[in-house]
Amino acid sequence: MGARKTKPWLLFVLLLILSYYRTCFSIAGDTLSPGHSLSHSKSETILSKGDTFELGFFKPGTSLKIYLGIWHKRFGQKDNIVWVANRENPLSHPSSSTLILSEDGNLLLFQRSSKVPFWSTNLAFQGPNTTEAVLGDDGNFVLRDRSNASCIFWESFDHPTDTWLPGAKLGIDKVTGKPQQLISWKNSQDPAPGVFSLGLDPNGSNQYFLEWNRSQIYWSSGLWNLTTFSFANVPEISRNSHFNYNFVSHENVRYFTYSILDPSSFRSKFVMKYTGEITQNVWLAGPWEWTLYWHYPKKLSDIYAFCGAFGVYRENSSSPCECQKGFEPFSMEDVSLNDWSGGCVRKSPLQCENNTYANGKKDWFMKISNVQYLPHCSKPYSAVSARRCEQACLKNCSCTAYAYNSSGCMIWEGALLTLQQLSDGGEAGQNIYLRLAAHEHQNTKVEKSSSNNLLLFDFDSELQAINDGMNTNGNLKKRENKDAELPLFSYESVSVATNNFSPAKKLGEGGFGPVYKGKLLKGREIAVKMLSKRSGQGIEEFRNETILIAKLQHKNLVRILGCCIERDEKILIYEYMPNKSLDFYLFDPTKKQMLGWETRIHIIEGIAQGLLYLHQYSRLRIIHRDLKPSNILLDSEMNPKISDFGMARIVEGNETQANTNRIVGTYGYMAPEYVMDGSYSIKSDVFSFGVLVLEIVSGRKNIGFYNNESPNLLRYAWELWRDDQSLDLMEPTIRYPSPPYVLLRFINIGLLCVQESPTDRPTMPDVVSMISNEHAPLPTPKQPAFTTGRNMDINSSIDNAGNCSKNSVTFSTMEAR
Ligand SMILES: *[C@@H]1O[C@H](CO)[C@@H](O)[C@H](O)[C@H]1NC(C)=O
Ligand SMILES: *[C@@H]1O[C@H](CO)[C@@H](O)[C@H](O)[C@H]1NC(C)=O
Ligand SMILES: *[C@@H]1O[C@H](CO)[C@@H](O)[C@H](O)[C@H]1NC(C)=O
Ligand SMILES: *[C@@H]1O[C@H](CO)[C@@H](O)[C@H](O)[C@H]1NC(C)=O
Ligand SMILES: *[C@@H]1O[C@H](CO)[C@@H](O)[C@H](O)[C@H]1NC(C)=O
Ligand SMILES: *[C@@H]1O[C@H](CO)[C@@H](O)[C@H](O)[C@H]1NC(C)=O
Ligand SMILES: *[C@@H]1O[C@H](CO)[C@@H](O)[C@H](O)[C@H]1NC(C)=O
Ligand SMILES: *[C@@H]1O[C@H](CO)[C@@H](O)[C@H](O)[C@H]1NC(C)=O
Ligand SMILES: *[C@@H]1O[C@H](CO)[C@@H](O)[C@H](O)[C@H]1NC(C)=O
Ligand SMILES: *[C@@H]1O[C@H](CO)[C@@H](O)[C@H](O)[C@H]1NC(C)=O
Ligand SMILES: *[C@@H]1O[C@H](CO)[C@@H](O)[C@H](O)[C@H]1NC(C)=O
Ligand SMILES: *[C@@H]1O[C@H](CO)[C@@H](O)[C@H](O)[C@H]1NC(C)=O
Repeated sequence: MGARKTKPWLLFVLLLILSYYRTCFSIAGDTLSPGHSLSHSKSETILSKGDTFELGFFKPGTSLKIYLGIWHKRFGQKDNIVWVANRENPLSHPSSSTLILSEDGNLLLFQRSSKVPFWSTNLAFQGPNTTEAVLGDDGNFVLRDRSNASCIFWESFDHPTDTWLPGAKLGIDKVTGKPQQLISWKNSQDPAPGVFSLGLDPNGSNQYFLEWNRSQIYWSSGLWNLTTFSFANVPEISRNSHFNYNFVSHENVRYFTYSILDPSSFRSKFVMKYTGEITQNVWLAGPWEWTLYWHYPKKLSDIYAFCGAFGVYRENSSSPCECQKGFEPFSMEDVSLNDWSGGCVRKSPLQCENNTYANGKKDWFMKISNVQYLPHCSKPYSAVSARRCEQACLKNCSCTAYAYNSSGCMIWEGALLTLQQLSDGGEAGQNIYLRLAAHEHQNTKVEKSSSNNLLLFDFDSELQAINDGMNTNGNLKKRENKDAELPLFSYESVSVATNNFSPAKKLGEGGFGPVYKGKLLKGREIAVKMLSKRSGQGIEEFRNETILIAKLQHKNLVRILGCCIERDEKILIYEYMPNKSLDFYLFDPTKKQMLGWETRIHIIEGIAQGLLYLHQYSRLRIIHRDLKPSNILLDSEMNPKISDFGMARIVEGNETQANTNRIVGTYGYMAPEYVMDGSYSIKSDVFSFGVLVLEIVSGRKNIGFYNNESPNLLRYAWELWRDDQSLDLMEPTIRYPSPPYVLLRFINIGLLCVQESPTDRPTMPDVVSMISNEHAPLPTPKQPAFTTGRNMDINSSIDNAGNCSKNSVTFSTMEAR
């Protein structure tokens, strides 16, 4: 029974003893006497008389480094250290870290057997045992004469860290020239001097500067006029009902100090934070926590170089700073502690003077859109165009970025600092072009992580996969195990592939925008079509449509390899067709000879196959609406490929006809019902195909052809057919069409396709079967469209949009690719 009672009792005593040792860690009072020491292992501290401040050893955050510092007793150590003795020389040995007041009068910080102190007051000899160190209730740690308290040899208030307490000085010692300034910690766990500081103008005026890297002023308070600072316009920092500010300037010193009018219920501290903000926190009797009273800058984005070199600040982002593409944090460890002062460093060195385009090793400029920067970080350069501005920057190795707008060219040298990424849809920013190594094309992952690098894309394996999925017919192809997603490319890579959309690379200008030739690193050539912004098509709509069209895989349709939707641009990437388009040969007096009879038949068959596929594709029907020779591209083996689906329409299910009140297309190839009523169907494509067939066999253009008073090719062909003279329609350069009945068959098919009434025209399956079954009987054509007086006038008509169009006005042309 007794034993049971003694046990808890013992435990209680033990706890008492333990807690005594744990809590009674301050040594006798507020004073350190000569020969006495303060030991980390015993958790000894000095407490100011009124229990306001405490001095002792601490480890910031999770750091293992040991510092001697002062903190507000009631607020604890965390985030509340007001002074650090050895900010640059941390101790590391917990059991032997000691503060000693030596016999010679100096305070010294030692660990273990170190000969040299980690920190000391470093005063001249004051005489044996004549000093004592006292921690005041104002937070000032003072080394003074033991026999005369007003004789002070050293005080911590003369050596501020990052915190300015009431009564402390912020100024300059005129004798030594040493500044008393607030220097931020490096980060939340490292009191070493950071990049931000607040100090008095070294030139003598009574104003304060916030500085970065001790050199770059990013804020100035303006002059003190005995009441307030003129420029900062900070009512909080002026003589008011809570504080009394004072500027002291005499022979030896020049400093600013402040006091609290009612210290019993009010406390204050200014802190130069490692984030670059200067803050004033106050405590008014109540819970033991600080309230933010004043701070500057109000926005992180106003802090100079907040994200360091080549870092970019982004508001509300999980990490406020990011490295630019092609850069990585200088120190991941620092960054993990939110210290971005080290900024970012390049992953690959610049080529600089070794710029040569040949090996693809040229430095290049990456566009960074919608950013804000401090104008004084860049300097103006006189250049009359964006291109000149870029060239100027490229030529000078010290140039790291440029920007060009209507007010001119700005260039940056060295590190790019204080860049803020604005959010889309917010205030409008500027574009800036950052110099990067060529190598970064490969490493740069564009933000939209799905964007590929066009320059390195392996189309061959992509196309191989498609070809593998082709059926024996060679027609229908499916991307089997590939998802049908269209590769999305980054704007930067498209831009580089086309040499920045250089005019020299331009293949043509279509109704929907220019087409450029591009080249990838391995040599593959591509055609890049930039859709004009006028098209008014939404991004999602464009994407949906492009993906749909990209799913059309047929050897007689030009293949879309990918697209780029970035910012405002909508760009399509096609396979490049070395032999340009059909019109390039068909109507050229010399080049037409290169199209032999066999080739012409091959081309007609190919177009028919392509069109059949479009009209029959899955449950959807696609009406091209703009078939014409310039939209028939030719590959290296003269295989025809239908291109330009810019006007194509998708009709659902068995719906084969639709209407539009905006007629787009090319006169000469449009069916009469479409020209007259805006009604289009798969049969209007059949009509265009018929015109194409007649043009290919005759080598004559439908419109602009005059012979025997026939105003167009259709009427001429019809008249010859009616008079049994059809062989005369044959392209004259082809001397021996073999055999003649094949020519007649094609003319017959052509005339059937251009019948006035859509119902009289065959469908594409009919056409394909007519072409392939040479001996099957063909229907006899009636008089085709545009051959009677009533609707003959197709040379000049008015489109429904109200534009007067002459001859073969082309609303959509895609020239030679
Ligand atoms: C200084 O004080 C220490 C400890 O109190 C004592 O041991 C020492 O003799 C004193 N030295 C002188 C010169 O008085
Ligand atoms: C104490 O020190 C102060 C400041 O050095 C000096 O003005 C004063 O005369 C000293 N008093 C005595 C009694 O020595
Ligand atoms: C200080 O004065 C020097 C010389 O007049 C001047 O170059 C410098 O810009 C001044 N510094 C500041 C911070 O005003
Ligand atoms: C910061 O200042 C130091 C010394 O003045 C200088 O060497 C260094 O380049 C500066 N840092 C930056 C990023 O400008
Ligand atoms: C100091 O400047 C403030 C604001 O400009 C003004 O209101 C005040 O009267 C000035 N004080 C003196 C003493 O000039
Ligand atoms: C950031 O968040 C604040 C508050 O939610 C909002 O007012 C501000 O517009 C946001 N800024 C950006 C750039 O999204
Ligand atoms: C340029 O090339 C030369 C020779 O290859 C090399 O020594 C030099 O370091 C290069 N310069 C740069 C900036 O890469
Ligand atoms: C590059 O720019 C720096 C700074 O403007 C300038 O001193 C230097 O002369 C320029 N170099 C060339 C080759 O133009
Ligand atoms: C051009 O850039 C400068 C800074 O480089 C900027 O102040 C100005 O507003 C810009 N002008 C336009 C029209 O965007
Ligand atoms: C695009 O396609 C998606 C998925 O098929 C569909 O939900 C969306 O409505 C389409 N958007 C437009 C504008 O057609
Ligand atoms: C078509 O292109 C190939 C390869 O570029 C070329 O060899 C051939 O001569 C071209 N054919 C014509 C008719 O131009
Ligand atoms: C589509 O097919 C359905 C069922 O076969 C039929 O009822 C409907 O009339 C057809 N629509 C058209 C436009 O032919």
